[in-house]
Amino acid sequence: MSVTHRIAPSLLSADFARLGEEVRAIQAAGADLIHFDVMDNHFVPNLTVGPLVCEAIRPHATVPIDVHLMVRPVDRLIPDFARAGAGIITFHPEGSDHVDRTLALIRDHGCKAGLVFNPATPLGWLDHVMDKLDIVLLMSVNPGYGGQTFIASTLAKIRAVRERIDAWRAQGGQEIWLEVDGGIKVDNIAQVAAAGADTFVAGSAVFGAPDPGGGYAGVVGRLRGAADAARAA
Ligand code: DX5
Ligand code: ZN
Repeated sequence: MSVTHRIAPSLLSADFARLGEEVRAIQAAGADLIHFDVMDNHFVPNLTVGPLVCEAIRPHATVPIDVHLMVRPVDRLIPDFARAGAGIITFHPEGSDHVDRTLALIRDHGCKAGLVFNPATPLGWLDHVMDKLDIVLLMSVNPGYGGQTFIASTLAKIRAVRERIDAWRAQGGQEIWLEVDGGIKVDNIAQVAAAGADTFVAGSAVFGAPDPGGGYAGVVGRLRGAADAARAA
């Protein structure tokens, strides 16, 4: 079975003084999504960017902007990000009092909706909302910072979500992407793909250590190549 793998560079590790250029560069390098990390110094111990910055990069973006909300509470920000050009909005269940309502709010604003799981967040949150999801995002680090080390126990969780999604599809459910975020590099993406992920966030791997020979395109190409080879194997 052929699987489409999507590479989503995280702007968290980009040069914030040149964000528009960085967006254009990673798209030219083959990025499928622009991952946009929103942190509030409350739900997570870091503070990043809001809808104004999303709106500023929007004219440069030719692929969907994948907004990852690490904020509490989330609902008030959803219309703002939808207006600012988000194509996808994901949030952590701990950041919402009414997960079902928040998912519906995102879709009502014309965006794909997703639920994010921290490494220790149980998958039970999926039980009653599969029909409202376009994406499940599994964190493979604790959220808050780029450049952390991939937590290996996430692999079993990826396999568990893959099984749930496949079972859901088999009974006629809609397509749901399985995205993984944190510590993904050229040398471990194969394991993440083999466990069943189809969408891969990579921040420091893309922006932090540009391939001396191939720049961003070199890294994005090697990430995709390793993921494709793992799934084909
Ligand atoms: C962490 C963020 C990630 C982060 C990934 O809280 O959600 O998207 O930018 O960065 P790397 O790939 O460096 O772990
Ligand atoms: Zn993220």
